[in-house]
Amino acid sequence: MSELLLIKVTKYFDKTQILKDINFEVKEGEFCVLVGPSGCGKSTILRLIAGLEEVTSGEIYLQGIKLNDLPPKERDVAMVFQNYALYPHFTVFENLAFPLKLRRFQKDKIRERVLETADILGISSLLQRKPKALSGGERQRVALGRAIVRKPNLFLFDEPLSNLDAMLRIQMRGELLKLHKNLKTSILYVTHDQLEAMTLGDRILVLKEGTIQQIGTPLQLYSSPSNIFVAGFIGSPPINLLKGKINFPLEFIFEEKYRLSLPDKWEKILKDYLGKEIYLGIRPEDIHIATEKEEIKLELEQIEPTGGEIFLYFRLGEKRVVVRQRSKDGLCVGAIMGLNFDLDKVLYFDVNNGDNILKS
Ligand SMILES: Nc1ncnc2c1ncn2[C@@H]1O[C@H](COP(=O)(O)OP(=O)(O)OP(=O)(O)O)[C@@H](O)[C@H]1O
Ligand SMILES: [Mg+2]
Repeated sequence: MSELLLIKVTKYFDKTQILKDINFEVKEGEFCVLVGPSGCGKSTILRLIAGLEEVTSGEIYLQGIKLNDLPPKERDVAMVFQNYALYPHFTVFENLAFPLKLRRFQKDKIRERVLETADILGISSLLQRKPKALSGGERQRVALGRAIVRKPNLFLFDEPLSNLDAMLRIQMRGELLKLHKNLKTSILYVTHDQLEAMTLGDRILVLKEGTIQQIGTPLQLYSSPSNIFVAGFIGSPPINLLKGKINFPLEFIFEEKYRLSLPDKWEKILKDYLGKEIYLGIRPEDIHIATEKEEIKLELEQIEPTGGEIFLYFRLGEKRVVVRQRSKDGLCVGAIMGLNFDLDKVLYFDVNNGDNILKS
């Protein structure tokens, strides 16, 4: 059963269309991540679901109940904002109790729920403190607690970790996954950080300028993006995109002098593009330093060690090609090196509409 269902949802602010024909579902118990660049409409989608904004057209259902005309407090969802304003004069206990007080829970029940929630989040020892006496991570846990304490059917998280430093973010990501495993409540989680999306999501929705580009598992988005935008947005460092021409016998010519012989298996799909320009996409880990029979030779311009892996940047005309490596032994900047492309892994994109040619 789908927990949350959006059907043809659109949103205008005045005459500006912010969301176009949004269709998706969050399944029962699913951790869904909504990702996209700043301003693409992510928070607006959450606000429509929570009832903080009205849809212009379309329908929203939670467990089969139409939400469109229900006031926010009657919607069984809890939202956690990036800016997790806690009440500064309330203790942690009072902050956690507040959503239940609003809903007129009995005092005993409130106490029971607050203690249970504090236990789940590991903040039982902080209940008598005020927010200013908490660290950033502890405050964030209290903010999550305020959502959990109500036991809603759906959590809406709007970039809840973006105020935390890098280490704490990684820790909180782990804690969120554990929490989700225990509570099994469906989550719709917004971020513009693709790494966060990849590590948290059972499924990811990629949004651009108010339109859904693709919905899929992290692996589907990475290995089979539906267009050049998704290909470029998911993965770090980003996929290499080379503009060139398809020729017969099947080959890809780029920068006018480099040639890659393409596997015959692509012939049927690429035949419509003979003599035309396309983009070839290849991930940094699918280019290898060649010891023999190298396909192209490029100058190594920069070595970027990041600890466990090394990124090598090669000059290609006006652009650069990035290669992911395990070791930098024997490499030096300025060297001309041979590279081989794992041609079974390459993607092709239409230059006009950006579509993944292998998928269309
Ligand atoms: N109340 C409003 N009135 C008019 N325009 C709005 C309103 N709220 C949002 N917008 C516009 O709608 C667009 C989408 O905003 P939204 O906050 O959903 O983006 P976002 O994807 O959450 O971005 P970010 O990653 O920066 O938080 C933006 O262009 C924004 O300026
Ligand atoms: Mg936002």
